[in-house]
Amino acid sequence: MERGALAQTARHIPKKAGTIFVVSTEDVWKHKGEALRQALENTRYEVLFLPGGEDHKRLAPLEIMAEQMVERGGDRSSLVIAFGGGIVNDMGGFLAAIFMRGIPVIQIPTTLLAQVDAAVGGKTGVNLQNGKNLVGSFHPPLVVVTDPALLDSLPDREYRAGLWEIIKAGIIREPGLFRYLSEQRQAVLSRRPEAVDHIIAESVRMKSEVVSSDERENDLRRILNFGHTFGHALEAETQYTRFLHGEAVAWGMRAAVHLGELIHSVSAQDAAAMHRIIDEYGPIPSVAGIPAANLQARLAHDKKTVQGSVHFIVPVRIGEVKVVSGVEEALVRTAIERALA
Ligand SMILES: NC(=O)c1ccc[n+]([C@@H]2O[C@H](COP(=O)([O-])OP(=O)(O)OC[C@H]3O[C@@H](n4cnc5c(N)ncnc54)[C@H](O)[C@@H]3O)[C@@H](O)[C@H]2O)c1
Ligand SMILES: [Zn+2]
Repeated sequence: MERGALAQTARHIPKKAGTIFVVSTEDVWKHKGEALRQALENTRYEVLFLPGGEDHKRLAPLEIMAEQMVERGGDRSSLVIAFGGGIVNDMGGFLAAIFMRGIPVIQIPTTLLAQVDAAVGGKTGVNLQNGKNLVGSFHPPLVVVTDPALLDSLPDREYRAGLWEIIKAGIIREPGLFRYLSEQRQAVLSRRPEAVDHIIAESVRMKSEVVSSDERENDLRRILNFGHTFGHALEAETQYTRFLHGEAVAWGMRAAVHLGELIHSVSAQDAAAMHRIIDEYGPIPSVAGIPAANLQARLAHDKKTVQGSVHFIVPVRIGEVKVVSGVEEALVRTAIERALA
């Protein structure tokens, strides 16, 4: 993770690598293709474009791309460079995981969300009609090239959506980061390079620590889902069109903090500080007209449900959360209603 890291990309390509496939979207390529082209100046590579958007994060485009890879000389020695937002990281990573039963991938995340989240931890995959990320594989990248300079063309709404995952990192495990985000809000929102670099580095470190302590999904990794159980319900209820993922997570964190207050897992003072920081980095699109009952009904369908019982991650204090289950339905309803209010 370093400003300017993109220029060093070629160094990470193994000498014996065969055909290199850059997987990207037209959109990302328009903004940042030239920068990658320069970084790969003396390297031969093919560019494959994915259709962007969550609707297209499906298996079908991967089959088409795998065929194209074979036609263009792809074999077991090939390498994928996934260059784009989280969708490209997930799809390009999964393509690498299954092409010829697995070839290496270099991840180059180009959104804030992808730099602090999607490209860290080795999860790859696509959506099914029945839900997000239901088909996939763990395929840890050869290297992640994280260059904050890639974010300078990112639209403001996308940037702020990524910030909520960083706020999440502060709440669940990093009190110092939480304090920094509170005190340096102007620097962060105006994208001052040293502020951006700092919060990315801290978030990447946090997620790396959590996922390396247990590569597969279980207890510690579950804290990363703070705000996500509620957030996923909101995304699904609004057909993934009204909120960006990070915005839904912002709302979900609010609901999770309310739930923590209702079950007395967190002090009123810490809860207030959490609500404040979520507000200060807002606003998110309006939640008007969304029925609490519908959101509550959707909780049970969340992928993170374990054997039928919904687990919630609630705050304990700034920098600490815990997993609870068997929470009374009425309290969950109240938390949702308060977050919608
Ligand atoms: N694997 C994981 O652990 C993990 C974790 C979190 C999220 N994800 C996945 O990540 C995806 C969301 O990622 P996202 O928020 O990055 O969305 P995205 O990939 O759709 O990118 C958001 C938008 O930004 C554009 N964009 C990307 N880079 C840009 C740049 N540098 N300049 C200008 N525009 C740019 C894209 O074209 C797109 O329109 C979801 O599918 C989610 O499931 C995966
Ligand atoms: Zn998330």
